[in-house]
Amino acid sequence: MLDDGTIVESAPAKLNLALHVRRRRADGYHELETLFAFAQDGDEITLSRAAAPSLTITGPFSADLNAGSDNLVSRAVAAFRGAFQVHGHQAVILEKRLPIASGIGGGSADAAATLRALARLHGVPLDSELLMRCAASLGADVPPCLLGRTALGTGRGDDLTVLEPLGGVPALLVNPRVAVSTASVFAGWDGVDRGPIIAGGSVMERARAGRNDLAASATMLAPAVAEVLAWLQDAPGVAFVRMSGSGATCFALFDSAAMRHAAAIALARERPGWWMLETSLA
Ligand code: C5P
Repeated sequence: MLDDGTIVESAPAKLNLALHVRRRRADGYHELETLFAFAQDGDEITLSRAAAPSLTITGPFSADLNAGSDNLVSRAVAAFRGAFQVHGHQAVILEKRLPIASGIGGGSADAAATLRALARLHGVPLDSELLMRCAASLGADVPPCLLGRTALGTGRGDDLTVLEPLGGVPALLVNPRVAVSTASVFAGWDGVDRGPIIAGGSVMERARAGRNDLAASATMLAPAVAEVLAWLQDAPGVAFVRMSGSGATCFALFDSAAMRHAAAIALARERPGWWMLETSLA
């Protein structure tokens, strides 16, 4: 918290190291098994007490979002106020650095960071059960983003088991600047259960043995996903490549930060239209 009571909370990009879709559910969701990891970079929420509620969106992707009451940040404020009987208002600034509808949490990370900021402002413990329920009411990816730690997600993806951190692994996130709808990608899943995430081993061993079951459907909707995956696969020093969530963002993990940086420079030259983020795992 800054001296004037302003709280700055980071909303890091979420990555799915593996995402296994097991079955469709009657409620429209899908039963998943997924390995969540987090980048060290992403959006940012700045929150302070104010006479009237407001949401201001800044940053490179601000034009792609509206600041209305349906924004996940506004919905997170409303959910928190309802759950914790908060009086008074907050001014929120969202610095939008992550592309919209891109499989790396975006709106979910923003909602989770808003909840964390409000919890800090109002003295609510970050491991509060009610705070977690608020997160779950906002979407399946909000609880893992609230937790913000490497974790196994089951159920809708929001039954969470914390796993060991992957701190410092160099990562490059790449999006071909195609937005894809999560609901449409899930709707295009072929319905074949290809089995669980393996139970034993390290997080990276489990991720390597796994897959992203939404990649085929996302590639049908956004063929550039295949191009991104192929480009990353060929980069020198690459240790792991996968699409995240429902796409279209893909990521590569590298043996060293120097290799990651070399790949980023080559990518900027060869594919100037693609978005990328040089970061490390949290
Ligand atoms: O929960 P959230 O609003 O983030 O989910 C967006 C959409 O993604 C859902 O409406 C649903 O179509 C799909 N989804 C799903 N199964 C999950 C998570 C999300 O089908 N486990």
